Amino acid sequence: MHWEYIFLDSIPSTNLWAKQHYQTFASQKITIVCAEEQTKGIGRCQRCWISPKGAGIYATFYFQLPKKTAHLSTLGLVLCYSLATVLIQEQFSPKIKWPNDVLLQGKKIAGILCETLFTEDHIDIFLGIGINISTPKKILKAIDQPATSLYEETHKTWDKNQILQSLAQEWSRNLELFQKKGFYPFHAPYENLLAYKGKTITCYDGQTNYTGIFHSVNSDGALNLLLPDHTMKTFLAGDISLEK
Ligand code: BTN
Repeated sequence: MHWEYIFLDSIPSTNLWAKQHYQTFASQKITIVCAEEQTKGIGRCQRCWISPKGAGIYATFYFQLPKKTAHLSTLGLVLCYSLATVLIQEQFSPKIKWPNDVLLQGKKIAGILCETLFTEDHIDIFLGIGINISTPKKILKAIDQPATSLYEETHKTWDKNQILQSLAQEWSRNLELFQKKGFYPFHAPYENLLAYKGKTITCYDGQTNYTGIFHSVNSDGALNLLLPDHTMKTFLAGDISLEK
């Protein structure tokens, strides 16, 4: 699928902006809304995404999918895998923290927020991605979980437009494959990049914390947690953390 960019300076949130303007976007393309700065960046689970000016990629990928699309909940996982692929091409060794965080050296470098709107005949998808490129150390330290940036990892300057362009290319290719075959072709390569697999983790499902061993991810993207009573609990969504 082809894509086009909309570059903006300072806005509250690219996801919010895309949801306010998508009716003017081309329906057969991916529209990538990017901002230099977000004053109210939105994260998952009611968190915020700190988005200082020029220091990161703050982008929302908008596109439409048919109403009956299978494996819809794995779109964020596929975007996460697409970014991991780009980082591997750049000689990094990224890990994926289920469902869709990208880690470098155990620290978060990117997160994804997936929002959907259902209409009569199609689904509007808003996949927001935040990537720390040169986020100041002081700001990284203030984030509520270990975080890093491309600059922190390499001490070199990165061209964020070049990273975004590689991601758009990778995403467009992967979206075409997803439209034909769903999550199946991504399942094994995604699982190979998982952080914490086989380790004791806690999974918060929005209401309750469950602690157990991270067993696997299903071909629909769900996480299997082996509980102490030897039963398997499956999560389609949630937030995981490593038990020390
Ligand atoms: C997470 O909590 O890990 C998800 C973070 C998603 C942040 C991105 S930045 C671009 C887009 N616009 C937003 O307001 N949020 C997403």
